[in-house]
Parts: sequence; C-alpha cells; structure tokens
Amino acid sequence: SRVRHYKFNVVMRNTTKLCSSKPIVTVNGKFPGPTLYAREGDTVLVKVANHVKYNVSIHWHGIRQLRTGWADGPAYITQCPIQTGQSYLYNFTITGQRGTLLWHAHILWLRATVHGALVILPKRGVPYPFPTPHKEVVVILAEWWKSDTEAVINQALASGLAPNVSDAHTINGHPGPLSNCSSQGAGFTLQVESGKTYMLRIINAALNEELFFKIAGHKLTVVEVDATYVKPFKIDTIVIAPGQTTNALVTADQGSGKYLVAASPFMDSPIAVDNMTATATLHYSGTLASTATTLTTPPPQNATAVANKFINSLLSLNSKKYPANVPLKIDHSLFFTVGLAVNPCATCKAGNGSRVVAAVNNVTFVMPTTAMLQAHYFNMSGVFTTDFPGNPPVAFNYTGPGPANLSTMSTTNGTKAYRLKYNSTVQLVLQDTGVIAPENHPIHLHGYNFFAVGRGLGNYNAATDPKKFNLVDPVERNTIGVPSGGWVAIRFRADNPGVWFMHCHLEVHTTWGLKMAFLVDNGKGPNESLLPPPSDLPTC
Ligand code: C2O
Repeated sequence: SRVRHYKFNVVMRNTTKLCSSKPIVTVNGKFPGPTLYAREGDTVLVKVANHVKYNVSIHWHGIRQLRTGWADGPAYITQCPIQTGQSYLYNFTITGQRGTLLWHAHILWLRATVHGALVILPKRGVPYPFPTPHKEVVVILAEWWKSDTEAVINQALASGLAPNVSDAHTINGHPGPLSNCSSQGAGFTLQVESGKTYMLRIINAALNEELFFKIAGHKLTVVEVDATYVKPFKIDTIVIAPGQTTNALVTADQGSGKYLVAASPFMDSPIAVDNMTATATLHYSGTLASTATTLTTPPPQNATAVANKFINSLLSLNSKKYPANVPLKIDHSLFFTVGLAVNPCATCKAGNGSRVVAAVNNVTFVMPTTAMLQAHYFNMSGVFTTDFPGNPPVAFNYTGPGPANLSTMSTTNGTKAYRLKYNSTVQLVLQDTGVIAPENHPIHLHGYNFFAVGRGLGNYNAATDPKKFNLVDPVERNTIGVPSGGWVAIRFRADNPGVWFMHCHLEVHTTWGLKMAFLVDNGKGPNESLLPPPSDLPTC
C-alpha cells in the first residue's frame, strides 16, 4: 500500500450545455470532476483549496472512514466548511474496500457540478472474482440545469414549493446526441473492439433522480454495487439511485455497428414528472461513422417492475474470500419513517401559507452552525441532542395514497442524533410514509456499509416480515432505495466511532430535512476510538 496525493482546486468554470452557458463550480475546472484512483489499503491525501465564493466541503461517498470521521466531509456534521481562500487536507485510509464509489461536494446543492469517480482497485496482485475485463470505463450520470442550481433551490425554499426539475441528464458530462440542442454533438462515445469485455463503473451523481441505464442490443453482467461484490447476474436494464454505484461487464458481442446508451429517470411517484433521457453511443471500432445507431427504448419513468427485477437480483457474493457477515443478534431495533410533510409557513407566498418539509420519525433535521463531530469530541453543549426517537411518535399505519392523517404528518424541528454503543448491532427498518404521495427514498448512511435484509410494500409488519429476512447473502450497500409506499430493513455493526449522517440522497429531500445522525461512542480498546482532529480542520 502507498500514499496517494491529490490536489483539488475548487474553481469557477464557464460551461456550455443545451446551447446555453453558465459559470459552474468545479474541481480543477472539470465537469464531471477528476477520477481519484487508489488501491485497497492505500492512504489518500486530498488537499482541497477553495477559490470560489461559496463555502465548500467534499465527501468521499461510501468510504468507511474508520476512526477518521474528520475526513468524511458533510458540512456541519463532521466538519465546518472550507471557507473562501482556505484549504483542508482530507486524510484517510481505505480499509477493506475495493470497487467504485464517488466523491462529491456536501454542502448546499454544489454536488450538482462538484462530483467525480473514486476508483478503488484491489490490492496489487489480487484478482477480481470474475474474469479480468479488457478495459474499464467510468460512466458518470448526472443532471443539468440551465440556470444556477443554488438559485433553483433558494427560490424553491422561499416559495415553499418543489424546485424545478433539471433540463437534462448527462452521461460523462454530455446530454448526448438525442438532446434538444442541435450543436450538442455526438456526446460520450464508448469505443469497443469486437469480442472484448468491458467493465463499466456506473455512478449516479444526479441530485434528484434515480435512473435506468441500458445499452441497445447488449446485456449487462452486474458484478459489484457500492464497492461490494455481488453474485454476477445478467440483465437488460440497471436502476441506480443518486449516490449508488454499479460495476457491470458488457461484452462487445454484436460484431459491428453503433448502439445507443440511455439513462432515463425512474420515478414511481404520481407527483413527479420528468422524461429527459441522456444518451451516449457504444461504437465498434472499424464501424463507419455514418452507420445508423441502433436505438433502444428506455423504460417508462414508472416502470417499477423493471426496477424490482434489478433490485431483487442483488445478492452479496458471499464467497470464502468475501464473506457476508450479517449481524444475527440485534442490540438496537429501530423503526424510522421517512417522507415528506407539509408545515405552516407564514412567509411562503406561493405555498398558500404552507411549505413542503421532510422528516425522519417526524423530526425535520435542522443543520447546526457548528460541526456535530467537533461538538461531540470537545464536549460542547447546545449544538445537538441525543434524543432522536428510535420509533415514530405516532404509531405508523398508512396505506396511502389518500388524504393525510394530520397526526401522522406534523413534524417538529430539531438537531438530534441517535446514540449507539461501540460495536453494537443495529437493525433499522425504513418506512416510506407516502403521506403526500408515495415516493422512493434512496437513504445513504455515512461511515458504514449495511446489509439489506428485507424489503416489502405497504406497512412493515414486525411480527411476520422478519421471518422472511435474508440473513445469509443479502446485498451490502451504503445507499438503499426505500420503495415507494414500502419499507426496507438494514443491519449493520456500529464499529466506527463518530458522528455519522444518514439522509435521503435526493438532494431536494435532504434540503427539506430528511436527514438525521447517529452518534457512535468510542470503544474501550486502543483501536476503538475516534482519532484526534487534524490541525487544519476548518472552524465555523
Ligand atoms: Cu453522497 Cu451524505 O452523501
């Protein structure tokens, strides 16, 4: 293992897409940002220097950050943001992980343009548990707004209503040949040689949308999600939520030609509409540029069955070398409702005296003004409390969609954490409330991977559903979709001391308050405590 040094200069860059230009916040002037490469076991040092007018912080999404919460990145949770003109050295070691992850800004909506791939190769000499691909290609899916994204969210917050949906999706920065701007060009092209196999490292860096991904005429063999190996399976269409990653093999078995690659929204909520499809091209080398492209039909945005087929195929590889160690005995059994609600708002003109909010167990999380991890480490009071409820305040029973039950809806504001003992085991059931409308919530837990042991529609039944849990080879992830009008159950061992954010990775829901934090105490052993903060840790 070695030490890898990176320099991330956060700078503005004028960028043209969809026939219009705007200045965007970037890392090193790139959109998407630079790919960070490392190997399992390496120590990564990234010096982030802020040259823009916004406060900045960078999150290494899915990196465990064992005992190094100071390098995790969510602003006001594990660090104060890096202010204009300042810099911070993120310092972490990659322990027991290999695969594809992503890094992204973790403040405001800067993630829209400040993101990139994080590729962790296995230790030198350790092969993949599948045939070595001829080549590996990073494929980053994202969203693009013609207007400034900070303006989009600020206007939504002022009005109390939902923000505008994006004007396009992108594949490696390009909306693609089928976008509604004639000078858009060919978009991203994946060059392949007939007969060879390629590994796509697919990342959803979009702010607010889950996406389908498919390639005309080619099957995808899924081998890894969220930097954990899965039992390989073949499928036509992948579904990927913001924050999730998927490695898939594609064999160039069609001889020649050009094939459309499509990324289109998956939303099975009745309230959301978006039919923008980003496109790219898979091109067999030697095939004439003038050759017609074989098209593909993206699934309709409400194609729940297509999404379920993919999700239900995911199982941990659970081999001798990569065992799935699912916690069997549970110390903390938690039940969190996640969803939207409506709160009164005197100043919201467009919202008719109300505003959309979001909550976990009816608590709408309020961002503190000092980082929670600092408050915890230095024993500062008044920043947050540890009374986050382990169960909803009103027994949850909802079968929506339909008129909302007001007692189920009303939320209170708070900066609350749920406290876990070091090395305790947690079972957490996440239930979509569907109070305004059923909606899929991709929930991301910082500092941990977890096992997705169960999933179902309707209300979770604590008496019967656990009997159906998969405790042998459930998929291991860091971000999981709570199905629209349904629930998922996850399990993890709280073996990483610190303050760990958990939130919906649809940025609009995070903004509205669909977030909370776990506080995990130090253990007693010498290697069971949070390390001291680095000396250049930003101050608020
Ligand atoms: Cu990728 Cu807290 O986020």
